[in-house]
Formats: sequence, C-alpha cells, structure tokens
Amino acid sequence: MFENFPTPIILAHRGDLAHAPENTLASFAQALQKGADGVELDAKLTSDGHVIVIHDSTVDRTTNGKGRIQSHSLESIRQLDAGTWFNEKFSGEKVPLLEEVFELIGRDKLINIELTNYATPRDGLALKVCELIKRHNNQKQIIFSSFFPSNLKIAANTLPEIPRGLLAMPGWMGVWARSFGFMFGDYQALHPHISSISQQQVQRVHRIKRRVHVWTANTPTEINQLKEWGVDGIFTDDPQTAVRALGRGG
Ligand code: G3P
Repeated sequence: MFENFPTPIILAHRGDLAHAPENTLASFAQALQKGADGVELDAKLTSDGHVIVIHDSTVDRTTNGKGRIQSHSLESIRQLDAGTWFNEKFSGEKVPLLEEVFELIGRDKLINIELTNYATPRDGLALKVCELIKRHNNQKQIIFSSFFPSNLKIAANTLPEIPRGLLAMPGWMGVWARSFGFMFGDYQALHPHISSISQQQVQRVHRIKRRVHVWTANTPTEINQLKEWGVDGIFTDDPQTAVRALGRGG
C-alpha cells in the first residue's frame, strides 16, 4: 500500500485540523483537496454500538452538546452540531460515522484509524471497526494505530494484513512504547511524538525493517527535518503547509 505514495506520507491529523472542525467530513474533504496522502481519524463507539469519529471522551469541546460519548446513542449524537464551535461557516457539520468517512475518502487515499476507546477499553471497538472494514473491503487503504497494545492485538488477530502503528506518548510516558514495547511487539510502525524522535531512533526502527510515522509536524522546519531523518510519514494539522514544504503539488 505505501509503495503508491511518496515518502514521507502526509496524513492530515483529524483532517485539515488547522482550518476546519476536526474529525468532520468537511475537514477530511478539505485535507484531500489540499493534497494530503490520507487522513488520520479517531474512532469510538456510541452507547448503541455504532462506530463514530470523534477525538475526546466527551462531546463538550467539539460539539454544542454535553456528556460522555458512551452516554450518547447514535441518534442523540447526530443531533449535535460539530462545526459551529470552530466557525459558523461549518454550522450543521455532524459527528460522522466511520462508514461515511470511508465513502467520502474513496479508495485511493490512506486512512489511519486510531482506536481511541481509552475510557472504555473493553467495549469491542476494534472488532466493530474490523467488521466495517471487511464489509467495505477497503483493507488496502487502512493503517491502525492506538496507544493501547490490546486494541492492536485484536486488530492483528482479525485483519492481520492491515499495518499497525503503536502510538507513543511524548517524554518519559512513552519510553516503554518507544523501546521494548515496540521492538518486541507485532507492529509495522512506531508512531512517536515529534518531541521524542531523533535520527538515531529512526535508524534503529529502520534496522528492524519497520516504519516511523511522527505526530504532529506543522511547520516547514519540522517537516523538512523529519524528511531529512528519513521518517516514513508525518501527521500534520496543516496539510497544505506540508505539501508545500515537501515541494509537492505544484
Ligand atoms: O495519530 C496521531 C496522533 O495525533 C495521536 O494523537 O491527537 O489523534 O489523539 P491524537
């Protein structure tokens, strides 16, 4: 799958996060228009078991509603406005279903699905997401990521052909994930924070034939530094800046 894209791949973090309400269809559409190779999104379950795309454990910050995600059914979450908090011109944007994002993106771009059931780790999210992918038959465009190895293990058992990236927190909190957790785990990529990556670390990961996808690089200086170090992918809040910094897209 990665051979169809330039290096580093540009993944738009929650869509065109800098210019649109994160994790909405508008944000993903804008990211693709601006030349991203794919998008990164955050998958969670509603109280009635539907896979939706939203980052936080509550709806408070990114919608006009209140409450924890797992206390909302799909019907109640769909009544919320997920755009106006960012800018009135996005009023009426909804919290999307994962399937709607699949439809919007089409087959040619990458989709990094972060399994973000961090507040409800036993809710069956990974299996539900795998079912949707099987139904949609779009395995070749998906990358899984999570801070929880347990999610990636379920994904590995269910859809082993889909690459898995282990997310690592910045600083000391991510030490285990960046070292033993990653090296001895069944992952195709390390997803470290930009503050905790060095050229030596990139080389160490490449020596064991795995990839490095770094979050979140937003300035031309950061993006070019990572390219120089040979990273395989970057997550960015500003895909247009990344496309220009890397001299792509005219
Ligand atoms: O997947 C990249 C990284 O941004 C993960 O963090 O911000 O989406 O939870 P976030």
